[in-house]
Amino acid sequence: MRLTVIGTGYLGATHAACMAELGHEVVGVDVDAGKVAALRAGRVPFHEPGLADMVARHTAGGRLRFTTSYEEAGAFGQVHFVCVGTPQRKDGDAADLTCVEAAFADIARHAREGALLVGKSTVPVGTAARLAAAHGSEVAWNPEFLREGFAVEDTLRPDRLVFGVRTRRAERLLRRVHAPVLDAGTPLVVTDFATAELVKTAANSFLATKISFINAMAEVCEAAGGDVRRLAEALGYDDRIGHTFLRAGVGFGGGCLPKDIRAFAHRAAELGVDLGFLRAVDAINMRRRDRVITLARELCGGTVLGARVAVLGAAFKPDSDDVRDSPALNVAARLGLDGADVTVYDPEAMDNARKAFPLLGYALSLEEALRGADLVLHLTEWPQFREVDPGWARELVYRPRIVDGRGVLDADRWTAAGWRFRALGRPVPQGETGWTGEAEGR
Ligand code: UDX
Repeated sequence: MRLTVIGTGYLGATHAACMAELGHEVVGVDVDAGKVAALRAGRVPFHEPGLADMVARHTAGGRLRFTTSYEEAGAFGQVHFVCVGTPQRKDGDAADLTCVEAAFADIARHAREGALLVGKSTVPVGTAARLAAAHGSEVAWNPEFLREGFAVEDTLRPDRLVFGVRTRRAERLLRRVHAPVLDAGTPLVVTDFATAELVKTAANSFLATKISFINAMAEVCEAAGGDVRRLAEALGYDDRIGHTFLRAGVGFGGGCLPKDIRAFAHRAAELGVDLGFLRAVDAINMRRRDRVITLARELCGGTVLGARVAVLGAAFKPDSDDVRDSPALNVAARLGLDGADVTVYDPEAMDNARKAFPLLGYALSLEEALRGADLVLHLTEWPQFREVDPGWARELVYRPRIVDGRGVLDADRWTAAGWRFRALGRPVPQGETGWTGEAEGR
């Protein structure tokens, strides 16, 4: 089939390449000429395993093209997928729909008779119906559930497909587009617009709630002397609970979960439904960042003023270079404001981190970040951080003190190598009682 994908950011570039992979002819559209030029040259402007290869292969093979022209896209496509961003509005919690509205208006103006306009962006419930009424074209909603770092895998082999449609024809067209995925046995839910829109926001809210639940348990463990890692392990053996998304730590970040739960609570309130628990989910998540800062202060004898702090991690999660709403950078920046001398290191996200927080210090290697540090904060669980030898690191730092903000380091190993070790939701290692009053001068 002939498809267009409007918006070539994270979601759109992945969707366009994966649709070409399924055998369709695809035109990707973006108003940003720089992005279009990069993609035409087979360059993907973000870190996503497998995507650059796929884009290069299909642009070279002629199945995938990129343009800035809606006219060209409109003349070409039988089905148009709208994949533009819906960030949080500057003036509150609601989603900013400027790009979605502009994309629908532009493609509707140029689309051929009978073309189907499919929204994939995460939107407040009610948006699809409003857009259908505004533009007269046939509309469908087909939310995506891709995770950064697994975007290609999640698009080609999703857990489920959801089609929000009003006509059999729209359903037939979407079934044809996704035929290879459906033939592979992927479950399909065909439903109305509102339900399709809600599946996405409900799924993200559930995931965020699960993380904040275990992080709230971490707070209780801190107060009561329990170990949240063992607690999560034991809880997860119950099939109804499960182990996934039950890792306590410095909390969730990224371009989706934080803004989606805020926008959902806001939209629900407009509809007269109180989703106040999502505000608690958000608050628990933010408190975990505060807790890391408290532990940092405690380990430094009450203040981080003048302390050399090595922050390991800048991306909001490993296998990503995305620093949007990154807990690691938020903590780093706040310690910088408190007078700490912060040095950040991340294997992939350095360029994005520098752009977002130009005033923080950055190291070119893990070793450089650790050298001379008074305190180490482990805030994004990249495999290379997990594998650090505490004895090797001990030789590099000035004072061996570490906070594990992701609950993956082995407390006994670090303690045995002479480190003062603190983790979220876990007791102080045996033989260690906290700050001992050692002089802070160097
Ligand atoms: C998420 C959803 O998973 C995806 O379905 C949706 O389409 C977009 O939002 P993503 O933002 O890529 O995807 O990241 P994800 O892997 O879900 O992690 C989100 C955040 O939660 C990360 O900051 C991660 O570190 C944190 N997390 C995850 C935890 O703190 N604990 C966990 O147990 C799991």
